[in-house]
Amino acid sequence: MPAMAMATPSSKASCLLLPSPPPARPSMLLAKKRTQRHRTLSCRASVHFDRRDMLLAGLTGVAAGGLGAYPGHAATEDTSTEVCPRGEKVTDKLLACQENGQKPCPPTSPTVFDFTPPTGPMRLRQPAHLADAGNVEKYRKALAAMKALPDSDPRSFASQAAIHQAYCDGHYRYDPTKVDAPFDVHFSWIFAPWHRMYIYFYERILGSLIGDDAFALPYWNWDAPAGMSLPDIFKDTGSPLYDAKRNPAHLDAYVNLDILNADDTIIPFDPQAVQYNQVVQNNLCTLYVQMMRNSKAQHFLGDKFCARYPGTVSSGTSGSLESMAHTSVHVWAGDPASSELGHDGQQHTGADMGFLATAGRDPVFYSHHANVDRMWHLWATKLGRTNFDDPEWLDTSFVFYDEKPQLVRIKVRDVLDASKLKYGYDEREPLQWMGARPTPLLLRKGGAAATTTTRKLRGAAPAPTFPLTLKEGQSVVVPSVPMPKAAAAGGGGKKQPDTVLVFDGIEFEPSKGAKFDVVINVPPEHAASAGPRHSEYAGSFATLPRGGNKPGETVVVALVLPLDEVLADIGVGDEEGTVNVVIVPRTQGIKIISPPRIETRER
Ligand code: C2O
Repeated sequence: MPAMAMATPSSKASCLLLPSPPPARPSMLLAKKRTQRHRTLSCRASVHFDRRDMLLAGLTGVAAGGLGAYPGHAATEDTSTEVCPRGEKVTDKLLACQENGQKPCPPTSPTVFDFTPPTGPMRLRQPAHLADAGNVEKYRKALAAMKALPDSDPRSFASQAAIHQAYCDGHYRYDPTKVDAPFDVHFSWIFAPWHRMYIYFYERILGSLIGDDAFALPYWNWDAPAGMSLPDIFKDTGSPLYDAKRNPAHLDAYVNLDILNADDTIIPFDPQAVQYNQVVQNNLCTLYVQMMRNSKAQHFLGDKFCARYPGTVSSGTSGSLESMAHTSVHVWAGDPASSELGHDGQQHTGADMGFLATAGRDPVFYSHHANVDRMWHLWATKLGRTNFDDPEWLDTSFVFYDEKPQLVRIKVRDVLDASKLKYGYDEREPLQWMGARPTPLLLRKGGAAATTTTRKLRGAAPAPTFPLTLKEGQSVVVPSVPMPKAAAAGGGGKKQPDTVLVFDGIEFEPSKGAKFDVVINVPPEHAASAGPRHSEYAGSFATLPRGGNKPGETVVVALVLPLDEVLADIGVGDEEGTVNVVIVPRTQGIKIISPPRIETRER
């Protein structure tokens, strides 16, 4: 944990909060009409032959270990086109589950039914902190019934929790006959739809166990100040909703949606006085960045899934939906003193919620993910953003047991519209985060954002060399990163492209949590105190521990952060030409393989 930072120069002005959300802008509505194909850096869809053969050809002669083992990261030009140009369609036929001494694999069934949209009443998911007593009582009864089923029943709570373990702890393998890499539903564009499927079936099984086809999960409304603590319904030790493996220090505290930041102080939760303390402010700004600034599918939902062929970069990249509030809530809820065995044979701390393999064993997981799902739903509906239209994503499919229980094959395209799945969200709290746009950390006397010129490094340290291994508590300035001409704010042009900050290769040990923040044009002595409530904050890399890899094994992922609003809000104009990119490590030992760069991408 980093030491507490000094008071920030603009502690009063941080993150302007509007009392109520502004109406949707017309441009949000227009955004819906865009049917333009989603594009990524390496999206040249000209490959017509088997990608795997191509990859293997590309790998010939590449030594294991070292930079050469990561095609696309040794050179400045991204050559990942050759490995995985459009992402890969995952189907249940390409996945196989292996027990490895633990028992997370679901029973197999000779018959798999294709998903058909449900009929029956709408299920209205209520905020957990405001849920009516009847709904809570139904959940208690249903969960008690689920827990009473024998573990071998695919509808049992043990089986439901094991689904998550199987899909994120290395039990499912991708294409074992050819590739045999651990498959994970996190860290790519699979994250949002897979978790929607998972809790959809969980909710229906619960409903069927109490004979109520309108039963709906309560959602943990952590995006509203009054919902920013563990909901009471999960605290009663005699309830089936209780789980003993939670951080005792956090049971009655404000949740921190930007975990491991400089203000990691624990503030007791007070439902009578939920207004703006520092944690609430920081949380609302974190959500603003996650939801409002990450407007493109690639930034919000994560990047395309690419199988982890031996010796290549890891699958995909997390979007802000996964890496920001979602990851923080997991880490915040788990008990740091409690550890569990992973597929790698190692003990991992943070059980249950703070370790992917065990997260599904805490009933609060499903209410947490109902809110993650609601965030996606709001992004696509209220904010009018556009999901991917890539068939590799849309036709990705998984199998789940439904309430009958029958094995059902369901595709991403089946779950894009919650109303077609016959559930919805009861919105009771105002969406305050919509107005929580960050404000500058560094101010000039008049109150305007300090210009970059006033922030140019004086007597700057020499530029770091890459690969660079981060040390917790030591911010690193990458000085004078050039901006493409169109990147600077106010560049004119009708059709301005997106400006993004790109880290090609971030190497880390997935068995441990990892995090660093990125801020722009902040002197190193102030960098550690910058965070999501400041305009200078560009985003974070953050992951949750998982046990699916071999002990000590590292993976490499990319990170792409939208930069246009940051540059506009800190007043970086065309004439500047460069910015200082400051990396603020929040954990120890992450390796940054090559220097970050700024580029523009077609919208
Ligand atoms: Cu599958 Cu919140 O994790």
